[in-house]
Amino acid sequence: MLSTRFTELFGVDHPIAQGGMQWVGRAELVAAVANSGALGFLTALTQPTPEALAEEIARTREMTDKPFGVNLTILPAIDPPPYDEYRDAIIESGVTIVETAGFNPQEHMPTFTEAGIKVIHKCTSVRHAVKAQALGVDAVSIDGFECAGHPGEDDIPGLVLIPAAADAITIPMLASGGFGDARGLVAALALGADGINMGTRFLATQESPVHQRVKEQMVTNSERDTELIFRPLRNTARVASNSVSRKVVEILEGGGEFADVRDLVAGARGRQVFDEGDLEAGIWSAGMVQGIINDIPSVAELVDRIVTEATTLVQRRLAGLTAAR
Ligand SMILES: Cc1cc2nc3c(=O)[nH]c(=O)nc-3n(C[C@H](O)[C@H](O)[C@H](O)COP(=O)(O)O)c2cc1C
Repeated sequence: MLSTRFTELFGVDHPIAQGGMQWVGRAELVAAVANSGALGFLTALTQPTPEALAEEIARTREMTDKPFGVNLTILPAIDPPPYDEYRDAIIESGVTIVETAGFNPQEHMPTFTEAGIKVIHKCTSVRHAVKAQALGVDAVSIDGFECAGHPGEDDIPGLVLIPAAADAITIPMLASGGFGDARGLVAALALGADGINMGTRFLATQESPVHQRVKEQMVTNSERDTELIFRPLRNTARVASNSVSRKVVEILEGGGEFADVRDLVAGARGRQVFDEGDLEAGIWSAGMVQGIINDIPSVAELVDRIVTEATTLVQRRLAGLTAAR
């Protein structure tokens, strides 16, 4: 067992979280993560309405009696989803842990605090981690440049970002982006984090509700098989490399605007990749960590392997290095 401030704060067995994942963070995966002793997050906006989110929370509870949370991703939008209603559905369902991401959670903090909810805010820079701590969040998850999804615009990889953030904040912190095995967990702990958050690695597990072809592609892919789309728009997202993501990069780097790629990046097309396994139907998020993903284990196998190997790594390999000669 690896006990950290993270495991103590959230009442879980292992210092491992599964971050929110659009279309993927549903009951099957989150319950499997909870049952493995790690902390899983349902993704609020994967559900079409706040009522559907409440039903998904209830469905997850039927599959686990362990703690789990809900991710609320707050992104700028012309026609934003009803964030307040999603937030209220989380609270009314009795969930006590929320992962916020995207915009800072200032607007929602008083309501969460009043409801006794613990908030872990995911961000991509030291200054945003400091701001989140000042806003009263309970923990921070810091996403390095390696991560799937939105790495921000600073391009600071975890090897520097994690210790820099650890030096700047006092609340518990998860290292995120590029983690997939025991070596990463031990490194994160050495860098000053209290655990790891993973997305891509959990996407390639048996319980992940995406098509088998997507999982197999991730095993085949190397660390070089991602694209950074929307860079010129300063809304960078790291996605798997395919004909669609490469086309989006080409259009935007050639001076195109969002309107020119809107159809290519449509959420419905990305969903088709996950549901039907048509790998060239649209864009889908995946990180550099694909380079160290070599199998499709069950969630329980994955979490157990990471924790067991991490313990051995610390007790044998690292402790051995300090042994007197
Ligand atoms: C398919 C997929 C969808 C994601 N969707 C979201 C999302 O909706 N909200 C969010 O906060 N993070 C999202 N993420 C990011 C993850 O929660 C996590 O921060 C990231 O994957 C960590 O990097 P890693 O993939 O290298 O482990 C997504 C990641 C993946 C792989």
